[in-house]
Amino acid sequence: MAVTGDLFTEYCQCANIWSLNQAKNLTKETSMANFSDLLKNRRSIRDYEDKPIGMELVKEIITESCLAPNSSNGQPWRFIIVNNKPMMATLSGDSKNNLLSDLEKNPDSPIKNYEGALRDPGFNVFYNAPCLVFIGGSKKIRSLSVDCALAAAYFMLSAAEKGLGTCWVGLGSNIRDPQLIASLGMTEDYQIVAPIIIGYPKNIPEIPERAAPQVLEVIS
Ligand SMILES: Cc1cc2nc3c(=O)[nH]c(=O)nc-3n(C[C@H](O)[C@H](O)[C@H](O)COP(=O)(O)O)c2cc1C
Repeated sequence: MAVTGDLFTEYCQCANIWSLNQAKNLTKETSMANFSDLLKNRRSIRDYEDKPIGMELVKEIITESCLAPNSSNGQPWRFIIVNNKPMMATLSGDSKNNLLSDLEKNPDSPIKNYEGALRDPGFNVFYNAPCLVFIGGSKKIRSLSVDCALAAAYFMLSAAEKGLGTCWVGLGSNIRDPQLIASLGMTEDYQIVAPIIIGYPKNIPEIPERAAPQVLEVIS
């Protein structure tokens, strides 16, 4: 936990996200009784119980995520479930190596902000979560990113409603090892949009501050 916390702090500082994880006034028992509560209480979780998650539950959440709106009801999303921690550690390593080699080629890349964490052998981009779901599909579909992002949002809300934690891990989307890609069942045209970890939350952070909405114009 200490390692995860420290690395998460580093992630947040790098990402300039917020001052961090102070009071933890949310609990695992926080009510998700209504949709507004659900929206307010869903958090990105980076610290998980060492407890496996049942495949039936993951599949139920995936089924609910397919209720998301999507362009022309094309439903281009394809899901890959990795319910295996050693495999997730291997995927994390590949993604980290690829990000670091990208950074060498382009030192001004925003990836620079994460260099410290990426160079830390103890940093698993998937935070040692028990399960990972890739949401993606054929890069030939023009609306792929938007459709999959909507499915990802539904996925994260569905999981929260069931008392589970999730985190979209962009740092984990740079899988390029051909053998790994093949073992994941990704076809050549498969593009990862959302790698989402899921599991039982150990710590639920407070909501990172949200700025007030900026409404540029109201025409009435
Ligand atoms: C496209 C995208 C990429 C993200 N990548 C990462 C990531 O690589 N690592 C991480 O810890 N969190 C990642 N996050 C989670 C965000 O940091 C998080 O959603 C944001 O700080 C707001 O916190 P909240 O989800 O608890 O409201 C990502 C979120 C999105 C939408």
